[in-house]
Amino acid sequence: MAIDTDLTGSFHQEDLILQTARGLAAEVGLTPVSEATGALLALLAAASPAKSVVEIGTGTGVSGLWLLRGMRSDGVLTTIDIEGEYQRMARRLFTEAGFPSARTRIITGRALEVLPRLSDGIYDLIFIDGDRAEGESYVEAAGRLLRKGGLVILRGTHGATSIRDSGLWAPAVIPSGDGLVAAIRL
Ligand SMILES: C[S@@+](CC[C@H](N)C(=O)[O-])C[C@H]1O[C@@H](n2cnc3c(N)ncnc32)[C@H](O)[C@@H]1O
Repeated sequence: MAIDTDLTGSFHQEDLILQTARGLAAEVGLTPVSEATGALLALLAAASPAKSVVEIGTGTGVSGLWLLRGMRSDGVLTTIDIEGEYQRMARRLFTEAGFPSARTRIITGRALEVLPRLSDGIYDLIFIDGDRAEGESYVEAAGRLLRKGGLVILRGTHGATSIRDSGLWAPAVIPSGDGLVAAIRL
């Protein structure tokens, strides 16, 4: 069956806050998740339903805003980025979107230095969108941080083969929006 590209391209209309986050990303040269991918992140966070989420790669907050909108209303998004300047923009937009500061834990640093400091086995969902060269190491960290039944979502396929080839995960490719790989922690 043919896919209706008009529908997939224009179905998700972002509000002013998301448009601002997207505009700032363009200004600083980042490519945030697409509208379709953002909506999928919100859906997966809501289906979980996710209370504790880790995001690797805050950027200017596009994916974080979508995740926060899907998560439980008492949930906390821990988001990591090496660039404090991007995170300052994201923090302002999270606040403007109405999320109290207690809903976000914004950590500036290299993901591979921050992830070992997070608690094992307590997270419901981890979204990976940082340095693609480090994808496999992020997946390994996700295996430690997620509770059983928790969900890892990779933007793109970097690190995905380690998910496929390990008995720890039940993976699936989601060829929607930017293309994601998701896997349940067994
Ligand atoms: C594609 S952008 C993230 C976009 C964001 N997820 C969104 O959709 O709005 C990738 C981000 O990863 C960050 N990054 C790159 N290398 C990193 C590292 N080693 N540790 C943490 N963050 C890193 C960059 O600063 C950048 O903000």
